[in-house]
Amino acid sequence: MNDLTVGVVGAGVMGSSLAQSLTAAGIGTVLYDSDPQARTAAGFRVAAASRLARLSAARADAGPPGRLTVADALTELSGCDLVIENVVEDPEVKRQVHVALDAVLKPGAVVAVNTSAVPVSGLALATDHPERMVGAHFMNPVAASVMVEVVRTPYTAAWALRGLEELLRRLGKESVVVDDQAGFVINRCLMMFISEAAALVDDGVATAREVDRLFRACLGHRTGPLRTADLIGIDTIVHTIDVLRDHYGPERFTPSPALLRMADAGRLGRKTGEGFYHYSDGETP
Ligand SMILES: NC(=O)c1ccc[n+]([C@@H]2O[C@H](COP(=O)([O-])OP(=O)(O)OC[C@H]3O[C@@H](n4cnc5c(N)ncnc54)[C@H](O)[C@@H]3O)[C@@H](O)[C@H]2O)c1
Repeated sequence: MNDLTVGVVGAGVMGSSLAQSLTAAGIGTVLYDSDPQARTAAGFRVAAASRLARLSAARADAGPPGRLTVADALTELSGCDLVIENVVEDPEVKRQVHVALDAVLKPGAVVAVNTSAVPVSGLALATDHPERMVGAHFMNPVAASVMVEVVRTPYTAAWALRGLEELLRRLGKESVVVDDQAGFVINRCLMMFISEAAALVDDGVATAREVDRLFRACLGHRTGPLRTADLIGIDTIVHTIDVLRDHYGPERFTPSPALLRMADAGRLGRKTGEGFYHYSDGETP
């Protein structure tokens, strides 16, 4: 897979972060989003990151960046060897995208689903080629973590898993392959951790900063749960808990009222400039 072309569908937080990592690794990337503004903004972000990387010493001996094509239609992904889907965490939207993608892609193309919690099997079975689908739960930002949670369904072919693992190697990533159950490993644990942390700020037990400080200093976490929440996006967290609730029941998974209020108010974290913390351009609080 040397002259690999990778498609990225969804150009939000994850899609643009992925496109940055792919082009930085010298991989030709075709980026598509149904929202023209989102794809144009992502195109600018990736191009700016690529310019910066070329100027930095760290990339001095790296190869040239991969070409980025911002596509106006899903059909422009027809030549891709592998596509990573990163649209909103809504099972029905994802299903529609996979049905449409399936009709566009060439035989032998691998389709990786980047999802926080949606089981991959259900999406795979909505297509005519369930064997080419595999889950790839990337961390955010993509460049910051060496690990990817890979999800194999009962229908995933060995060649599809190999195709994804080969791409991950080119990105310098390791993977752990897990079974296809809603939330997989990370988010079945992480989502209620974040939700409970939000609830205790709401209850006045501690401030967001104090909560995060405790987890960093006492348990050695790299970031606390609420800074992580801002990075993920409060809307994505609520959608993910909705998916978990639909699979495991409301007794186990219900978003805290604090998270719902923030989502309603558009306080979505880093991407809107305000969440548990305030952000001004490029500033880390
Ligand atoms: N944010 C995170 O930290 C994180 C981490 C790992 C995985 N994920 C998962 O990755 C996926 C994307 O998350 P995100 O944070 O980038 O969300 P986001 O809201 O930032 O971006 C989603 C993008 O999907 C686009 N979209 C919606 N419907 C579409 C369609 N029909 N066709 C093409 N594009 C469409 C939207 O316009 C938007 O730009 C979700 O499934 C999420 O659970 C998120």
